[in-house]
Amino acid sequence: MSQNIQSVRGMNDILPDEAEFWELFEETVRGWLKSYGYRPIRLPIVEPTPLFKRAIGEVTDIVEKEMYSFEDSLNGEQLTLRPEGTAGCVRAVIQHNLAVQRPQRLYYMGQMFRHERPQKGRYRQFNQVGIEAFGFNGPDIDAEHILMGARLWDDLGLDGIKLQLNTLGQLEERAKYRAELVGYFEKYVDLLDEDAKRRLYTNPLRILDSKNPAMQEMIAGAPRLMQHLGAESMAHFEGVQQVLRDVGIPYEINTRLVRGLDYYNLTVFEWVTDRLGAQGTVCAGGRYDGLVEQLGGKATPACGFAMGVERLVTLIRESGGEPELEGTDVFLVHQGEAASRLAPRVAESLRDQGIDVLFNCGGGSFKSQMKKADASGATFAIIIGDDEASAGEVTLKSLRAEGGEQKRVGVDQVADEIMNSFFDEDEA
Ligand code: HAM
Repeated sequence: MSQNIQSVRGMNDILPDEAEFWELFEETVRGWLKSYGYRPIRLPIVEPTPLFKRAIGEVTDIVEKEMYSFEDSLNGEQLTLRPEGTAGCVRAVIQHNLAVQRPQRLYYMGQMFRHERPQKGRYRQFNQVGIEAFGFNGPDIDAEHILMGARLWDDLGLDGIKLQLNTLGQLEERAKYRAELVGYFEKYVDLLDEDAKRRLYTNPLRILDSKNPAMQEMIAGAPRLMQHLGAESMAHFEGVQQVLRDVGIPYEINTRLVRGLDYYNLTVFEWVTDRLGAQGTVCAGGRYDGLVEQLGGKATPACGFAMGVERLVTLIRESGGEPELEGTDVFLVHQGEAASRLAPRVAESLRDQGIDVLFNCGGGSFKSQMKKADASGATFAIIIGDDEASAGEVTLKSLRAEGGEQKRVGVDQVADEIMNSFFDEDEA
């Protein structure tokens, strides 16, 4: 016998019980985005490979080993499943001249793809909600993004998500620092692991981010970027912190936070929880003022962040935040030829009036249909037998009330009866 085909490793199905939960999450998120004036943008999942190489950086984990890239067999073009959303968003902003007239606040939601080793909180297909703001220079927008995060955790009922903040300064400032850092690491080359050795001359700042316990003491003694930053960079950083202090958002400055993508400058931040094991970063981002120009657009300041939806949903579920899913309004039970002809018309006319109906499909005895009605979580059962059908009536039975009150109602009155009972419930 042939083996059943399974989903690709690290790419998960989200089954209805969990997917309903995702929808509630998305509802909260959409309301939150709207309240800050962010507008949706929908971007392709596949982009030309050079876009990611140029935006994220050739010497990054993502570009070096995590991209799903392939050649379009029809025209030989090199394509990649997007590993993140910022690059595509910048491409679209440039292509459609979006940020030329006025600043833009944008958001996207969707699947991203990285060929990482799957584990809890780390998948090969995962979902992000990301926001990007174009055309704002000052620290106020960086601060807005951080305030947004804090508010969302609150809206989602999550606590214990901590903010780590750093500044990477400007490219020129980093260049000087980089030379000094390489000099420092060269002194300790025997302590460097393989990854660090590989990065020493290509991306030495990433060594600061290493989790290798054997290197921690040496890294702790490394020179600090912050000591190499000019007054303007420091003023920007101070501006962000001022807002956080004014609004009362606690934060920790982590001078080793450098991020795994090369496009950042000035502010970078991560929201981290210790409740998800090794994959504790639920949201991350920062400023990337050089990227629009680097990808061929007119120089435009920009910043943004993205959050990992799987990680947040796990966190919400693990902190006991199961949503209260509402059952449907009506389960429609019908048996007999005349009844089954009338039933679809009754269901459609109820739906016309905004009442949700779960229709019994596949026949069955009254008894078995009523069992399904009870199990469905519906508020009412509507029962139509041939007796009701010939009288132009239905039986309306409450599935919530003790003793299951029921009464016969004319087909044209049933919607009103249901609406009134909902109204009475609200009053009570
Ligand atoms: P990132 O740090 O690579 O940044 O990803 C953002 C978030 O996506 C992470 O903090 C994590 O929650 C989630 N994430 C990343 N990889 C995985 C994975 N393999 N499985 C599950 N979740 C994952 C970016 O992607 C930037 N584009 C963020 C940004 C937007 N910066 C400026 N604008």
